[in-house]
Amino acid sequence: MILSISGVGKRFGGLKALDNVNLNVKKGSVHAIIGPNGAGKSTLLNCLVGRIVPDQGTVGFDGYSLLGRQPHEINQAGIARVFQTPEIFGELTVMQNVMIPAFARKDGAFRINVWKRATDRKAVREEAEHILEDLNLSDKRDQVVNSMSRGDKRRLELAMCLVQHPKLLLLDEPTAGMSRADTNNTVELLKKIAERGITKVIIEHDMHVVFSLADTVSVMAQGTVIAEGPPEAIKSDPKVQEAYLGGAHL
Ligand SMILES: Nc1ncnc2c1ncn2[C@@H]1O[C@H](COP(=O)(O)OP(=O)(O)O)[C@@H](O)[C@H]1O
Ligand SMILES: [Mg+2]
Repeated sequence: MILSISGVGKRFGGLKALDNVNLNVKKGSVHAIIGPNGAGKSTLLNCLVGRIVPDQGTVGFDGYSLLGRQPHEINQAGIARVFQTPEIFGELTVMQNVMIPAFARKDGAFRINVWKRATDRKAVREEAEHILEDLNLSDKRDQVVNSMSRGDKRRLELAMCLVQHPKLLLLDEPTAGMSRADTNNTVELLKKIAERGITKVIIEHDMHVVFSLADTVSVMAQGTVIAEGPPEAIKSDPKVQEAYLGGAHL
């Protein structure tokens, strides 16, 4: 297991957003977390990246405890996250955006060394070009990001994660707000980057995406995991169908 979440709880005032969450992610797998709105999915992800500190429980990543770590320490330990709304630099070009985390990785978080040796710069740049190619962004490399579509921005954000060489990639609704065509495109890209062997945890509301990507699905409802298994078993689980009644549909 690359990620082990055990007994995690988090309250917001009187509300139990997370209640004894147990979840293990196998190295190299794509693990989806689904569940109705308000189930606690984003809160759980925020616990993994250090934005929220759980009240109870433990989170272990690759032999290292994540509890009490700052977001940048967690990032340096090998966890990258694609946010629900893209966090990118709108006034810069696609290439400039990708070069920022690429250099940060080499020099430590956000300490960018402009005097870096030319050969190093060249290697980093070549890798960035390669990743942009993989994500179909090569022809937009010199475009200013603000002028691009939402789908392009999300792909850029993914590229910014990949240049960091994460061991674990967390994706919170990567297809939110996308057209069907862009969604299908993203699924294909995620499959392509699966070949890099990066473990992925993906929160997703689009069942088409979940069932075409995930090896394992965990279903959350009311702050806890109510079912877990391969996609086919999850689809026919009566507990899961019940959790979705009145809300989203499987
Ligand atoms: N910072 C916060 N303060 C208070 N309540 C919150 C906060 N973040 C989330 N919640 C509440 O916790 C519950 C779980 O939210 P969330 O993790 O965003 O669910 P999901 O991502 O599954 O839709 C919801 O009832 C939400 O309103
Ligand atoms: Mg959410």
